[in-house]
Order: sequence, then C-alpha cells, then structure tokens
Amino acid sequence: MKSILFVCLGNICRSPIAEGVTLDFVSKNNLDIVVDSCGTGDYHKGETPCPNSIKVALQNGIDIAQHKARAITQGDFKQFDLIVALDESNIKNLLKMGCPKEKLHKLGSFGYENQDVPDPYFFDGFEGFEKVFEMIETCVHKLIEEKRKI
Ligand code: 4NP
Repeated sequence: MKSILFVCLGNICRSPIAEGVTLDFVSKNNLDIVVDSCGTGDYHKGETPCPNSIKVALQNGIDIAQHKARAITQGDFKQFDLIVALDESNIKNLLKMGCPKEKLHKLGSFGYENQDVPDPYFFDGFEGFEKVFEMIETCVHKLIEEKRKI
C-alpha cells in the first residue's frame, strides 16, 4: 500500500483532518505513503478547511491550514491504492462514480464498528469536532497498522 485518499462530501471538515492525522503518523514513523484528501462534491473547491477543523487539528499539533479543497476525479480511482470514505453516503457516491470496489473502505470499519464519521459542519459548537478528531485518529492508526504491509 503506497497511497491513500480520504474522501468526504465537501473536503473542508472531515477528510482534511484524516489527511493531516495520516501525514503526521507517516512522518513520525518514517513511512513512505502518499496521502491526499478530496470531496465527492465541488461546492468548496479551492477553500481552506473550516475554522473548527483547523483549530482541532492544531490543538493536536497538526497544521492543516494550507489544504485546498478539491473534488474527486476519475484519475484518483487509478492513482490511489486505497480510497477511504468517511461515511456511507460517500461510499454510495463513490461507487456511482466508478470507484473500484476493492480499493474502497469506510474509515469507521477500522476500530469503530463501521460507524460513519458524522459531519461536524452541521453540529453546534466545537465539541463535535473534538469527538470527530478522536474517532478519525483512532481509525487512521488502526488502518495504517493493518494496511502498511500490503
Ligand atoms: P465535509 O463537511 O464533508 O466533512 O467537508 C461538509 C462541509 C460542507 C458541506 C458539506 C459537507 N456543504 O454542503 O456545504
């Protein structure tokens, strides 16, 4: 496994956190894995992550402020070894777009009983972002432990 792409809907809340947590883990463990994130939609193309995602990542020592949102492309389905969706609706959309089934996983299937990572964009306040960060961090660590040798 040489590359991972995280996919949510807007690429401004959840998948940029997953990308940042993974890049941090990869760098601290001297792994050679390409990491990126994108959205199934292009509503926020070119935007930086939402302020609460930047804040929760920074509280955990991870800077995601430079990320720019983008939508998934057909090329991503070829380029990436692993495509990791944040929730079930992302999975459905990706399959409709032609994502190869064997590459596609749900992040919550790695240590969170296959739960969806809820979209904190629609939450009130900051607390939801802290829960989402913890869930993403737990699952990303398990995902890499399982997949790094493949
Ligand atoms: P994300 O959250 O999928 O975690 O980036 C969203 C942010 C914005 C919108 C949808 C999801 N939106 O439609 O504006």
